Amino acid sequence: MKELLTFPKDFWWGSAWSAEQAEGRGDTGKAKTVWEHWFETEPNRFYEGVGSEITTDHFNRYKEDVQWMKKTGQNSFRISISWARMFPNDGVGEVNQKAIAFYRDLLTEMNENGIKPFANLYHFDMPVALQDAGGWESRAVVDAYVHFADTCFKEFGDLVYHWFTFNEPLGPILGGYLEDFHYPNQIDFKRGAQAGFNTILAHALAIKAFKKLNLSSKIGVILNLSPTYPRSQNEYDLEAAEICDAFYTRSFLDPMVKGTFPEKLVEIMREYDQMPEYTEEDLTIIKENTAQILGLNYYEPRRVKARLTAINEKSPFLPDWFFEPHNMPGKRMNIYRGWEIYERGIYDLCIDIRDNYGNIESFISENGMGVANEERFLNEEGQIQDDYRIQFVKDHLAYVHQAIAEGCDIKGYHLWTFIDCWSWINAYKNRYGLVSLDVETGKRTMKKSGEFYKKMSDMNGFEYETSKLVGTKREENN
Ligand code: BG6
Repeated sequence: MKELLTFPKDFWWGSAWSAEQAEGRGDTGKAKTVWEHWFETEPNRFYEGVGSEITTDHFNRYKEDVQWMKKTGQNSFRISISWARMFPNDGVGEVNQKAIAFYRDLLTEMNENGIKPFANLYHFDMPVALQDAGGWESRAVVDAYVHFADTCFKEFGDLVYHWFTFNEPLGPILGGYLEDFHYPNQIDFKRGAQAGFNTILAHALAIKAFKKLNLSSKIGVILNLSPTYPRSQNEYDLEAAEICDAFYTRSFLDPMVKGTFPEKLVEIMREYDQMPEYTEEDLTIIKENTAQILGLNYYEPRRVKARLTAINEKSPFLPDWFFEPHNMPGKRMNIYRGWEIYERGIYDLCIDIRDNYGNIESFISENGMGVANEERFLNEEGQIQDDYRIQFVKDHLAYVHQAIAEGCDIKGYHLWTFIDCWSWINAYKNRYGLVSLDVETGKRTMKKSGEFYKKMSDMNGFEYETSKLVGTKREENN
């Protein structure tokens, strides 16, 4: 039976993107970021050799883009503030007045058009000079970040609705120190652990600085979280899942939200001599300055099993010494991105936050579907008929609705993304937007999903066949 699923009053309907992926270089002056540097040195690592010089050209088109936010029904939107733009002298020194003017104009335009600005302070885009000085491995870089954050609170505190210290802090550690898809392209767990620890410390120090200013907004963090499902209930698979979860989910979630580190993770890192350096004072700062709000980025679940093969002891220490991915038969895939589609994962995640993280105020801060060659779906009027994206959004949101019905404090849903934007090493291969982008001309065109999003936001919900919701209290009660 179809039911109208209505969301709580003032639900945040919106989307998100980041400075490096959407702004383009602009003319304010800007330090070179790790992405620009890596692109200059190894353009072959980027899809079709396309870098982030122009991207969606939001810098020059932000007024038009705010109108597109309205046309797609968004009442809130997450930007990121570029550290490299704010501090063009390699991320330190004098603040850039032109950058302040740009962000103040953009944030004012959003507010005047009824769009609540969510501002994130770090989305993978470190000034390269700071990375080469040690990046997150260095305490001096942590101090520079806290200065940047504090400057942003002071310059934009009157215009920002909610703040976020980091987007997916695990990403640069995985990519930069374990799996070679981010600069500095190292494979070294211990250095990654130091960078990870210092990121957590930077988050806590930024929150400490924020609290001193008594702003009316909240500050939190955006984490990429996936429930970890074991292949079976066999004790070996269960242990593999527990360890995988400690490395990839609890590693940042626990310290950034609860102020403590997962015991299992610490135990393994001690045993294998992978612990970072820290002081007791650092631990106190982390304990006392935790997130006030949590963004959940959910794309796909993690499925794991006990290892079937021996570890090559000459290979460097990596989390996958303790588990292997489980390629579940029959799983549904987004073949373009190679990610599994499993809607119930978003519900399991919300329940985990409710039960194990004090039901902290949260929202879905990213969820979305990147699809290649969307021109295949153009209709005669030149509009992309992305029914797959509409279905993807509804199927996930129906589970979010159910999680709210079961007491989860979920305040909104932000899609990845708004207008098609540049996707790191995938450049423009997969498109995620509600609005399509002509990369050559910069022209924006509404997709069918953009019209759907507006209607859903106007109705504060949508009609849905609720018998599809399996594995929830609703199913138990039927
Ligand atoms: C999220 C990031 O992990 O996934 C975004 O916060 C990113 O920056 C998005 O673009 C989609 O991933 P990708 O690699 O397809 O762009």
